[in-house]
Amino acid sequence: EESKQIKLVLDESLPEPKLIRIKDATENRGQRVKVFGWVNRLRVQGKDMMFIVLRDGTGYLQCVLTNTLCHTFDALTLTLESTVVLYGVVDKLPEGKTAPGGHELTVDYWEVVGKAPGGDDAITNKVSAESDPSIQYQQRHLVIRGDTASAVLKVRSRVMRAFRDHFDSAGYFEVTPPCMVQTQVEGGSTLFSFNYYGEQAYLTQSSQLYLETCLPSMGAVYTMAESYRAEKSHTRRHLSEYTHCEAEIPFISFNDLLDCIENMVKDVVNRVWAEPETRSMIEQLNPDFKPYTEPFVRMRYEEAIKWLNDNGVKHEDGSDYVFGEDIPESPERAMTNKIGKPILLTHFPGPIKAFYMPATKEDPRVTESVDLLMPGVGEIVGGSMRIWDHEDLLAAYKREGLDTAPYYWYLDQRKYGTCPHGGFGLGVERFLAWLLDRYTVRECCLYPRFVDRCQP
Ligand code: 4AD
Repeated sequence: EESKQIKLVLDESLPEPKLIRIKDATENRGQRVKVFGWVNRLRVQGKDMMFIVLRDGTGYLQCVLTNTLCHTFDALTLTLESTVVLYGVVDKLPEGKTAPGGHELTVDYWEVVGKAPGGDDAITNKVSAESDPSIQYQQRHLVIRGDTASAVLKVRSRVMRAFRDHFDSAGYFEVTPPCMVQTQVEGGSTLFSFNYYGEQAYLTQSSQLYLETCLPSMGAVYTMAESYRAEKSHTRRHLSEYTHCEAEIPFISFNDLLDCIENMVKDVVNRVWAEPETRSMIEQLNPDFKPYTEPFVRMRYEEAIKWLNDNGVKHEDGSDYVFGEDIPESPERAMTNKIGKPILLTHFPGPIKAFYMPATKEDPRVTESVDLLMPGVGEIVGGSMRIWDHEDLLAAYKREGLDTAPYYWYLDQRKYGTCPHGGFGLGVERFLAWLLDRYTVRECCLYPRFVDRCQP
């Protein structure tokens, strides 16, 4: 009752506060500041002291409220996730005490901006780290406020910038191909189709074919665009919508392509590792992570089949893997984890790969194709050289039973100054699942889309 009467007054004799964000607290130590944010943690100590860990997206700040400041109605009813504005002075913590940034805000005045419910509707009741995964996905808009989820999303932002920096500094141009298309790239079974003004259209599976058309226009190009796959499988590494980092390079050999992939992965890791803030988030999420400096293992598909047999990795019915069949997720993961190093797996048989991949000269059974496999996740990159001869490409369409008409623009590339070229696509969520040691790619995007989930 009494608390309802207590009203805080702003002491006008104090210096005018400087509005700061938490990341700038260190350089503003010793002077009076004003900070907005969300109550990330709350601890009441006796009746005259209260600690708030404030969060504003740029960092976390411990704030201490004493005496009257914690006697008001707002103070007594304060809940996690409420928004507040706090005034006071940031000072270095004395030896032996710890808090984010090594400092603490001693509050002299504060106000509530927006309250959050307590009781049964409290955020901690709606989501906790122990809740069922389906509740976590349903409440994803609240989960992303958490320390772990927000760190993953922040690293994701830095990783995407690092990919762009990698390509930009190597002289590539970024392009933004359409997501609404009338052609397939990776087989008809995973196409999402929709009605486009009365015509059948699809959500793109890959921007590759469009990137190929950009080579004569801009030389090497890349894109960071969404790709869509109507995957029926419920696995920890398949999404219906994912961010696809794809590049295409003219006048290269298959070996050049393998080097491009290896250099890109190493360079992107080095770039994010060199940023202290990003590095500390990577270390928080994946304490054992170290950038990989040795050459990646290069292994042919045929050797992988042999490796599986030599190491007792079999089909469920106990039979051996044989040349010509796809290596599914689980044996692939078993092999990659056992070898424990990144593997550039090459020369897959034609029939299990996409129509545009050329056979090698020495062995027509296999193609100039590559997957990059990472420990813990398996495949994170798929790439290949592209059939660049017009007649050969027509033959490939015929073999696959594909109608060439919707692809007239793609086939024209082979008529008007063709060139040997190749490229690859990397799944950003899979890269992050590897870098940050996440159990599933679903944790590595903002609002995951997978079988039975298109919400929030
Ligand atoms: O191996 P994919 O299907 O290759 C292509 O789409 C080529 N056209 C790319 C190119 O050469 N430009 O897919 C490439 C990568 C995979 O290695 C994987 O990391 C990711 O895209 N990917 C998925 N990620 C999440 N969910 C899915 N359903 C994915 N399907 C592929």
